[in-house]
Amino acid sequence: MTTQTQREQQISTSVLVIGTGGSGLRAAIELAELGVDVVAVGKRPKHDAHTSLAAGGINAALGTMDEEDSWQQHAADTIKESYFLADPRTVEVVARGAARGIEDLERYGMNFAREDDGRISQRFFGAHTFRRTAFAGDYTGLEIQRTLIRRSEQLKISILDSVYITRLLVTDGQIFGAYGFDLNTGQRYLIHADAVILAAGGHNRIWRRTSSRRDENTGDSFRLAVEAGARLRDPELVQFHPSGIIEPENAAGTLISEAARGEGGILRNGLGERFMQRYDPERMELSTRDRVALAAYTEIAEGRGTANGGVWLDVSHLPREIIMQRLPRVYQTMLEVQMLDITREPIEIAPTAHYSMGGVWVDPLDHSTEVRGLYAIGEASSGLHGANRLGGNSLIELLVFGRIVGQAAAAYSAGLNAQPRSATALARARADIDELLAADGPENVRSLQRDIRNLMTEHAGVVRDEQGLLLGLEKLGSVEERITRVGIHPDIAGYQDLAHAFDLKSAALAARATLEAALERRETRGCHNRSDYPEQDPALEVNLVWSPQNGVVREPIAPVPAEIAELIAAQEISTAGKLVE
Ligand code: FUM
Repeated sequence: MTTQTQREQQISTSVLVIGTGGSGLRAAIELAELGVDVVAVGKRPKHDAHTSLAAGGINAALGTMDEEDSWQQHAADTIKESYFLADPRTVEVVARGAARGIEDLERYGMNFAREDDGRISQRFFGAHTFRRTAFAGDYTGLEIQRTLIRRSEQLKISILDSVYITRLLVTDGQIFGAYGFDLNTGQRYLIHADAVILAAGGHNRIWRRTSSRRDENTGDSFRLAVEAGARLRDPELVQFHPSGIIEPENAAGTLISEAARGEGGILRNGLGERFMQRYDPERMELSTRDRVALAAYTEIAEGRGTANGGVWLDVSHLPREIIMQRLPRVYQTMLEVQMLDITREPIEIAPTAHYSMGGVWVDPLDHSTEVRGLYAIGEASSGLHGANRLGGNSLIELLVFGRIVGQAAAAYSAGLNAQPRSATALARARADIDELLAADGPENVRSLQRDIRNLMTEHAGVVRDEQGLLLGLEKLGSVEERITRVGIHPDIAGYQDLAHAFDLKSAALAARATLEAALERRETRGCHNRSDYPEQDPALEVNLVWSPQNGVVREPIAPVPAEIAELIAAQEISTAGKLVE
């Protein structure tokens, strides 16, 4: 008989990276360039990682179009539009390091859109003071991902494309690796590592309409980190992007890039009114995402939407060549999914869950967590975006912190005298899989996932209230109880069913953290709209840190440096478009 240990592939490395999107690859590249042994694993092929969906651009105050731009102004815009929940130290690191992030991409051969004289082109994205979003059509994420993959290949980085990590291995608050299985063969993986970088995304797939595809952003990073002893910060702060498509049902939520508005797209309601006039007459379609999403939501909720429950985004007045050069993906996507020609007709859209602005609690400067040797990065982490993320800031974060976290993990590994291990922790990890494989209960994993997505959509969407959140928690309690009675049936096609069961556990944990923190944030701030608390509460200008043991704890935010505060003070802080109106 084949024993469990015989079926287990063992790997040892200095640093393990979990997730092969932009942040994971950038960190792995840094490690490899430093000569440190690194292995990266992902649950989907690296060419198809979620970063490849990122569309409109990447921010850096390069000043190629608007010379007056500066890293300080980038930081000021980011902090102001985060409703002061971003960590100013993290913001400074990203804004200062952004130009270097772009240089790194250029060094790796990235094809940015350029002006005729060779300057990198930069366009407006919502709520940026200057044009600072560099791009490659509206395929920016895809181009970044391809660039990072090419560099990883040059460096011969070991990347395993179908490994699902089920548990981080920890003893006495210190990481020593991770455990998982191969999605195709079921083969177990025991990976020993001095340090682990968690780069496995956020939790926006736990809503029904989302810009994430099946099986991605299911909250894996949150569960892995929390089970290892880390905490989550601001899980309730989820960005709803204003423009997700509505139909067909299996593509609902697919993103229409903000680049469409950046290039001059116009929003209209079902009555043909340019409704942003009502919510932010100055910035109109280039207002902040939280405001545009709330505006679209309100138009639909108050009966001024389209017949299908959306609003119109129209780019048909733009010159055809602009659409073809700068919005090629939107053009192709709409032709493919709806046979709609955006050069002639408007697109029907509605808000879609898009980005986890909260995530694993990390140190503001090096993204270490409260578990020694564990780092989190990208959408898995928290600190940069607060209550509203500026479009284009997530891609630059991957580049800046990829480099920093790679260096931090390398230094941590080099400083270890020995790697402590624990047979008990390993036995627990093995048992997780054994128990699920033996589970033959009546509950179906897919339908429980759908129940979570339904309850999050109904009770923790764009607008929330106490009663709804409590009802959401009650429904979640019943789902959690049913999760104990699932049946798992991997078949000849592979071990997807087992992966879905772990995804489900992750989704349930992420949903609980989100609902509990949303309940505690009794105010309206950025993306978090509480109809029962429509005003911003100065006492809640804090981060909410969640753990299963202690629930939600308030954490103060570091002060904004004077030179950035002055730039913020020079701009009017407007409440236009908020619920308070
Ligand atoms: O709309 C977009 O292109 C998305 C960009 C982002 O989320 O940063």
